[in-house]
Amino acid sequence: MLEKEIERVLFSADEIRARVRELAAEIRYRLGDGELVAVGVLTGAFVFLADLVRELGGEVRIVLVRASSYRDGTRPGEISVEIPGETDFEGGDILLVEDIVDTGQSLKALKHTLLERRPGSLTTVALLDKPDRRRVEITADVTGFTVPDEFLVGYGLDYAGLYRNLPDVCVLARCVYEDHA
Ligand code: IMP
Ligand code: MG
Repeated sequence: MLEKEIERVLFSADEIRARVRELAAEIRYRLGDGELVAVGVLTGAFVFLADLVRELGGEVRIVLVRASSYRDGTRPGEISVEIPGETDFEGGDILLVEDIVDTGQSLKALKHTLLERRPGSLTTVALLDKPDRRRVEITADVTGFTVPDEFLVGYGLDYAGLYRNLPDVCVLARCVYEDHA
């Protein structure tokens, strides 16, 4: 039963909506009213990206990228970044949109890969920041909420592929993931 697997709501859909509006205003304040390329990181950022770009207004291009960790265990912490082939970032104002910064490894790899494409500027935004888990020193330029070291689901975040469609950010009950560990 889904309800039993959720321990509590951390941020309600209403709280998130209000915060996303503030983040969009902060981003426009930093970057001005010009064209932006919003680069969303699949899959977790898709809900945040959809809400954020509608609050940003103005001219926004959207690119979806994927960051995956190597699974063969030979290169711990290494992340590969896939960008659609036709994408041209040169000279553009890039806004990297992440769901959550956890160890920080994905954000670090994504920034590195995007900077190689010689954008005019690169700004990073993450809805959530979990600083207790950090393994590389990095933070997003713009952050929605700082969160405790608990496993979160909803608003794009998943556990085993589920819960992404929950409208709130919720804490997953420990029994759910400890059973599978
Ligand atoms: P990183 O450890 O900072 O590289 O984060 C990698 C990715 O793990 C994030 O972009 C999320 O998609 C995912 N992730 C990290 N923490 C959580 C969580 O609490 N719930 C669901 N996904 C998470
Ligand atoms: Mg992510």
